Amino acid sequence: MTDLDVEALRGSLSQAASAGLDALDVFAEIDSTNTYLKAQTPPKLRRMRVVIADHQTAGRGRHDREWLSKPGGSLCLSIAYTFGQRPANLPALTLALGVGAATVLTELGVPEPRLKWPNDILLSGSKLGGILTESQTRSGDNISVVAGIGINVCLPQLRERASERSWAHSATDLASHMSEPPQRQHLSVALIEGLYRTLQSYDSGGADGFMAAYQSLDGLFGRTVVVETGAEVLHGIASGIDEAGALLVKTAEGERRVISGSIQRFGQAA
Ligand code: BTN
Repeated sequence: MTDLDVEALRGSLSQAASAGLDALDVFAEIDSTNTYLKAQTPPKLRRMRVVIADHQTAGRGRHDREWLSKPGGSLCLSIAYTFGQRPANLPALTLALGVGAATVLTELGVPEPRLKWPNDILLSGSKLGGILTESQTRSGDNISVVAGIGINVCLPQLRERASERSWAHSATDLASHMSEPPQRQHLSVALIEGLYRTLQSYDSGGADGFMAAYQSLDGLFGRTVVVETGAEVLHGIASGIDEAGALLVKTAEGERRVISGSIQRFGQAA
């Protein structure tokens, strides 16, 4: 049994989002909302298919890391979308979705959400949520993606364990930063709207329209970072992203461009 009301969710969507919705499913429990959508028929051109779960038994993050959720305390939401035209820079889509999600959170009164390249959402330097973007299928020239977002809404066990963790790696939840965090129902509607708008805008204009907003939400800018690229480990200072969405890191040997990698650690502003 889920406390999310699927009919009320449908009824709360704007006309634009309703018109673009191929399907909306809500589950009390599922293995992973991304895995579920990847197995479904892709949405029609420029349309979406959405699934939300209270709890995932096999939630996934980047690099096949486990994504933990608690029934009623987390939001696990995935959107499948089929692009009308082939996006020029698909890898930067996750950055744009981060901008879309942070904008929604700000509009809901969440204090100063920031982004940690390439897919984390931070509050006060701790991880509030993450985005996992995967390609779904490719039939002909059509490209469909599944974008999953996980947000920690109210997870008291995180707070109990916070003192055991280092600052840079700690996780947080909305309830630690707001006296009245948004209801999961309301958060779901706002994220469906915001992420659909982001996907449509990326479809028509690509990554360019998101770059300036990303810079203003960049939670790593000016901080010391340790970045694992697969080939090496870089130590330096994060200095933004370039037009392709690669992370720029000032190292002792000069500026490096990281196309794919993970932030192992980050510190205070240098
Ligand atoms: C990360 O931090 O690496 C990304 C986490 C993404 C988690 C979300 S929850 C909804 C969707 N379903 C999944 O299995 N993962 C994403």
